[in-house]
Amino acid sequence: MRLGINIDHVATIRNARGGFHPDPVKAAEIAANAGADGITAHLREDRRHISDIDIKALKKSIKLPLNLEMAPTEEMLNIALEAKPERVCLVPEKRLEITTEGGLEISKMDDKKKYFVKKIIRECTKYNINVSLFIDPNIDQINSVIDMGVNIIELHTGEYCNSLNSTKELVRIKEAAKYATQNNIEVHAGHGLNFNNVIDIAKINYIKELNIGHYIIGESIFMGLESAVKTMRNIIDEYK
Ligand code: PXP
Repeated sequence: MRLGINIDHVATIRNARGGFHPDPVKAAEIAANAGADGITAHLREDRRHISDIDIKALKKSIKLPLNLEMAPTEEMLNIALEAKPERVCLVPEKRLEITTEGGLEISKMDDKKKYFVKKIIRECTKYNINVSLFIDPNIDQINSVIDMGVNIIELHTGEYCNSLNSTKELVRIKEAAKYATQNNIEVHAGHGLNFNNVIDIAKINYIKELNIGHYIIGESIFMGLESAVKTMRNIIDEYK
């Protein structure tokens, strides 16, 4: 199971004061040395944390694959085609949300929106950029993903992490991961994962990658970024 480290909130802290410190590129390098398999950064339309310059700097400096999270818009497509990350993960974006609240509602998209997502997939594929879709763990959504010809999804684990009935949510994630895998879709997962709730997710061997950010960056205040990444890496390796 690969571990992608989301470094958005290094940029959040930097932006609280402006300037250049702390540098997301330095965080990515530390994460790489601590055992991360990839770096994830979300370029939001309002640029509240990661900036366009960060994406260019990450792509230029880091050796690990870059997973660019972005909304399915024309502006973001152009940025992705110029930056050429190894992967683009399409996420829904609402301007007033604090974080990504749910997955893309592929099954409810109108034809125009579906056409545009297909265009992103087509254009990115030309440049060897893989595309994944961030969706809720729901069979209807996966069926729509299959119809679109997408071969990577990331399952939103936020409901599981926040739920009082996490067992029920865990079952939904397991079933979704199994169903997608049986339909030749590679499954990733992320959102809200921490040292405790990651254990049951790591046990789902249909999931090939986890993308984790906020908790690791938060813990790095107490234990250092290298230790926080290593601890997460060890927990995943122990339970997978
Ligand atoms: N995966 C996706 C698609 C996300 O949007 C996010 C949050 O930006 C994450 C994973 C990581 O979530 P968290 O920061 O809660 O670990």
